[in-house]
Amino acid sequence: MKETRRHFLAWLVRITGLATLAGFLYPFILYLKPLSSSISAQTVEIPLEEVPPGEAKIVSYRGNPTIVVHAKEGMVALSAVCTHLGCLVRWEKARGELFCPCHAGRFDLTGKVLGGPPPRPLPKVPVKVVGSSIILG
Ligand code: FES
Repeated sequence: MKETRRHFLAWLVRITGLATLAGFLYPFILYLKPLSSSISAQTVEIPLEEVPPGEAKIVSYRGNPTIVVHAKEGMVALSAVCTHLGCLVRWEKARGELFCPCHAGRFDLTGKVLGGPPPRPLPKVPVKVVGSSIILG
């Protein structure tokens, strides 16, 4: 009986040690794992017909609102979050610029501030057209 209890406790200590070791190693292994699978998951594909020439659409890219504009110069994608206080910008087709309705911030299609209080340009998002799809990322 005594031998059985000792054997059981030794087994329990080993199992607890292995579980603790796995708990420490798992995040480390995730850190070392190649990112290729997660990078492809971070691209966003939009059907080209959803953004016709001259129009724009706001989509979520990596959890952030992103405005995709089908401009004369080609496809453009920028963060849709105004760098002033975080309102969403909208596409002003007639003026060919992005406009923030909160405090009249204005940006060109490179993200540069044209007017209003925004302190920084809108960050660019990589975009390309492949076949009949718009690919962000
Ligand atoms: Fe855009 Fe103020 S939040 S101009």
